[in-house]
Amino acid sequence: HIPVICIDGPTASGKGTVAARLAQRLGYHFLDSGAMYRITALAALRSGLAIDAAHEAQIAALAQSLPVRFEGERILLGDEDVSSAIRTEEAGMNASRVSALPAVRQALVALQHGFRRVPGLVADGRDMGTVIFPDARLKVFLTASVAERAERRHKQLISKGFNANMQDLRADLEARDARDSTRSVAPLQPAQDALVLDNSHLTIEQTVEQVWVWWQERQ
Ligand code: C5P
Repeated sequence: HIPVICIDGPTASGKGTVAARLAQRLGYHFLDSGAMYRITALAALRSGLAIDAAHEAQIAALAQSLPVRFEGERILLGDEDVSSAIRTEEAGMNASRVSALPAVRQALVALQHGFRRVPGLVADGRDMGTVIFPDARLKVFLTASVAERAERRHKQLISKGFNANMQDLRADLEARDARDSTRSVAPLQPAQDALVLDNSHLTIEQTVEQVWVWWQERQ
């Protein structure tokens, strides 16, 4: 049975960084499931499809045959490098809207399962432990206060050369959390068997260390 570690949690909780570091440390594959929703939203908008329930079937069809490739740090849609295009706040908000459409979520299941390959997988998202890999060996739900997460997102955007305003960021975060937590399918919530870690006052290194200890305990 191929081992899976799930790191779920809200926007800017640090799960992406933590998941990537664990994957590297273990030599495991890494699944950034949020990127799939971001790319689906981008592909839909580029095809002229508004992201709403009226276009659910069409967007799901698009998601089903998404020509996406992960090459190290680079994410390709067809032949185009969309790594930066999908990282804007707007792309995140569009991803959140597209991810509330049940048929789209369903269409992306097989693609995500495909990442479970030897020697193992670290998966980062919202529903990795609840829906996609319910039999994962370790499930972590990573959270942090809204203030702390807005601060982190701000730093991250500025370092990438994007403009960002704290007030707007915080409002965006809260709107995204609210949508992700109240949608009808796979709402953002810890799996019953998840270990919850509030890392508001922890560094990334300390967070990785805690998850590492939990992982060792499962061996
Ligand atoms: O993690 P990231 O910010 O890239 O995710 C973008 C959006 O995609 C989230 O706000 C969420 O709505 C959606 N998402 C999801 N399920 C996942 C990963 C992301 O619904 N497993």
